[in-house]
Amino acid sequence: MSKVELQTTPIKNEDGSPYIVLTIDDEIWMTNNDEEKEYIKSVVWKAKWNCLIAGLGLGLVVRECAKQKNVDRIVIIESRPDVCDLVCPTLGLKYSEGIGCALNMKGWTGKINGKVVNVYVDDILDENIVEKLYVNEPRFDWVYLDIWMEPDDPNTLDEYNTICKNIKKIVDPLVGEIDAWQKKKILAGPGV
Ligand SMILES: C[S@@+](CC[C@H](N)C(=O)[O-])C[C@H]1O[C@@H](n2cnc3c(N)ncnc32)[C@H](O)[C@@H]1O
Repeated sequence: MSKVELQTTPIKNEDGSPYIVLTIDDEIWMTNNDEEKEYIKSVVWKAKWNCLIAGLGLGLVVRECAKQKNVDRIVIIESRPDVCDLVCPTLGLKYSEGIGCALNMKGWTGKINGKVVNVYVDDILDENIVEKLYVNEPRFDWVYLDIWMEPDDPNTLDEYNTICKNIKKIVDPLVGEIDAWQKKKILAGPGV
């Protein structure tokens, strides 16, 4: 059976916070180490207005995104309910049977730093994700894709391209931007 764990270790980060690890089936998917936090800051300053994040993980990106002054609201797509069950309460979000409207998508909702955050339990690679989101949310101005473990895995570039093609119509055509974790490495392709 699949297993998700959030482990708080006795190790301390530079700022004194405890080193936390998210494991899925005993594989480390995310940590809150200083390097990870620096990387997130180097990308998230671009976040603006209505944001979409794929991959909740430990919730570090959403926390940083909610601090940006140009950000109004944030939608997260996370495929694993068990990750949401563990992490959403740590973000102060509550579960609801119907967030959004027409399609009654289930998920977690609340405010972080005064910004509305909706976490939908769904697969960003689902071919119907755009239709589901389109009725629930306005267009997005900044998208951050963070669902992978290896930027140079042969599937990562294919998945990145599929998502970009699928979500194009819900990204603002004038100012919208799609970012991704390790985007340069992903675009360079497998084995580079
Ligand atoms: C590296 S973690 C994301 C880290 C996160 N952004 C943070 O701030 O901590 C990747 C997450 O993506 C989720 N994920 C993997 N494939 C997905 C998919 N197809 N759709 C949505 N979420 C997915 C995983 O369950 C995991 O929670």
